[in-house]
Amino acid sequence: MQTIRQIDALRDAVAALRADGQPVAFVPTMGALHAGHIALVEEARRRTPHVVASIFVNPRQFAAHEDLDRYPRRLAKDQAMLAEAGCQLLWAPEVDTMYPAGFATAITIGGVTAPLEGAARPGHFDGVATVVAKLFNQVGPDIALFGEKDYQQLAVIRRLVADLDFPIEIIGVPTEREEDGVALSSRNAYLTEEERAQARALPRALGEAAGSIAAGGDIAEALARAEAALVRAGFGPIDYIALADAATLAPLDRLDRPARLLAAAWLGTTRLIDNIAVMPG
Ligand code: PAJ
Repeated sequence: MQTIRQIDALRDAVAALRADGQPVAFVPTMGALHAGHIALVEEARRRTPHVVASIFVNPRQFAAHEDLDRYPRRLAKDQAMLAEAGCQLLWAPEVDTMYPAGFATAITIGGVTAPLEGAARPGHFDGVATVVAKLFNQVGPDIALFGEKDYQQLAVIRRLVADLDFPIEIIGVPTEREEDGVALSSRNAYLTEEERAQARALPRALGEAAGSIAAGGDIAEALARAEAALVRAGFGPIDYIALADAATLAPLDRLDRPARLLAAAWLGTTRLIDNIAVMPG
């Protein structure tokens, strides 16, 4: 696997991959890779031999008070994991390459960005949309893969690609979980041993609420029970726990279409997110 840091070299390398006519798949990441990221690479490999990943800890999607400085960085291990999974190219630009002096463009997406993560983290999805649009233009893939772990992000990227006519097929990949149900996340590295044990309450509470709602139970009651379970387990504050339309992320008070139950909550100084599908009977 080749690691590339300059845009001209990236364009040449991707053009060389394309010579055999097979599609190029792209997996954008911020590094500190785990089995969830590797599941994206493996899904890409099932579709094409040509897989490009990126590692870029994007300052524009972190607010000033967020964890940009402590975000884990371990390039050598990431490179080994990507190579092992069959990734051919790693695009790992420096901040100055992505955002040279004078950089002044931002992409703002409405609608799907408004609730949930968008409300809890103002500006976050502008940063994500801007960097992903740049990465798409730099790499020029046919396919790009994103995890359902960041379910609203996946919906935002689908909106971006539809609205700006990127000729890229977006694939959503199911969330990889630990044995106890906790979703793999680079941020799990921040958890103490005790917090890591408490974290299992999040998928459990979502699973119970989803089951109850799918079985016709009262939505507000199920959400309140889930919130209470998280507080009992040691979570706090709870940024949100909400049922939303699976496509638009608009709040739902009746299960009359495919839905998603999503939550964000704090364990100590770590903010965890998770989500689960809820299908109408
Ligand atoms: P990052 O958090 O590194 O995640 C990279 C990709 O891995 C995302 O598509 C995310 O949804 C996926 N992912 C993370 N944990 C997962 C899990 N447990 N199972 C399956 N997929 C998982 O998301 C970002 O980076 C950034 O916002 C990015 C899109 C790279 C833009 O900067």
